[in-house]
Amino acid sequence: MELLVPSLAQLDAYADSLRNGFWSDNLRREASAREELEKIVADPAAFVASLDDPEAKGPPIPLPDGSTVERLPGYRRWMWDGGFCGSVNFRWQPGTSELPPYSLGHLGYGVVPWKRRRGYATRAVALMLPEARKLGLEYIDLTTDHDNFPSQKVITANGGTLVRRFTKAAGQGGAEALLFRIAL
Ligand SMILES: CC(C)(COP(=O)(O)OP(=O)(O)OC[C@H]1O[C@@H](n2cnc3c(N)ncnc32)[C@H](O)[C@@H]1OP(=O)(O)O)[C@@H](O)C(=O)NCCC(=O)NCCS
Repeated sequence: MELLVPSLAQLDAYADSLRNGFWSDNLRREASAREELEKIVADPAAFVASLDDPEAKGPPIPLPDGSTVERLPGYRRWMWDGGFCGSVNFRWQPGTSELPPYSLGHLGYGVVPWKRRRGYATRAVALMLPEARKLGLEYIDLTTDHDNFPSQKVITANGGTLVRRFTKAAGQGGAEALLFRIAL
């Protein structure tokens, strides 16, 4: 498995995965997949370009309750093993390792249901750590729901340690969650 910069060459495979139960936004899930499919149909090149946004030029980020938060600089990478297998989203605040309170972490990820338990998420996070170092970050923060044991294993396998338990804001679903940190 390798990480690819999203491109039109793999876009059909990505769109197929969205039609088959995958989403990149773990908060807005099916709704986000539907919206992405609409954007892909409307303007494939613009959709691909929107996934690479290191200057946060895109629109605000919608939350499950319909509210929005300010977009951070970020970009997406696609997991690829000859076919689409998942995505990893990376975002940061310029000039600091800290994130604003509304952000649920520097990295978010998901693997298509039919390719889980192959080590892909663990490898994808490992491949992103040098990218975070390149930006000068001293650590990356990651959040999981309290019962998302696969994701917690992904983080601890990459050297992450538990920072604290907390309750997500109502606009983010309000679930009990765990904040982890990986020192770089
Ligand atoms: C969490 C997720 C990304 C893990 O992806 P993955 O590629 O299957 O993870 P890995 O194969 O790297 O597995 C990580 C560890 O979790 C374990 N694991 C994976 N799925 C599991 C499951 N359903 N039940 C128990 N353990 C599981 C693996 O065995 C592995 O542990 P090991 O190294 O001791 O074998 C994937 O389940 C997913 O996309 N879930 C939905 C989206 C999500 O929750 N994203 C994370 C938000 S914080």
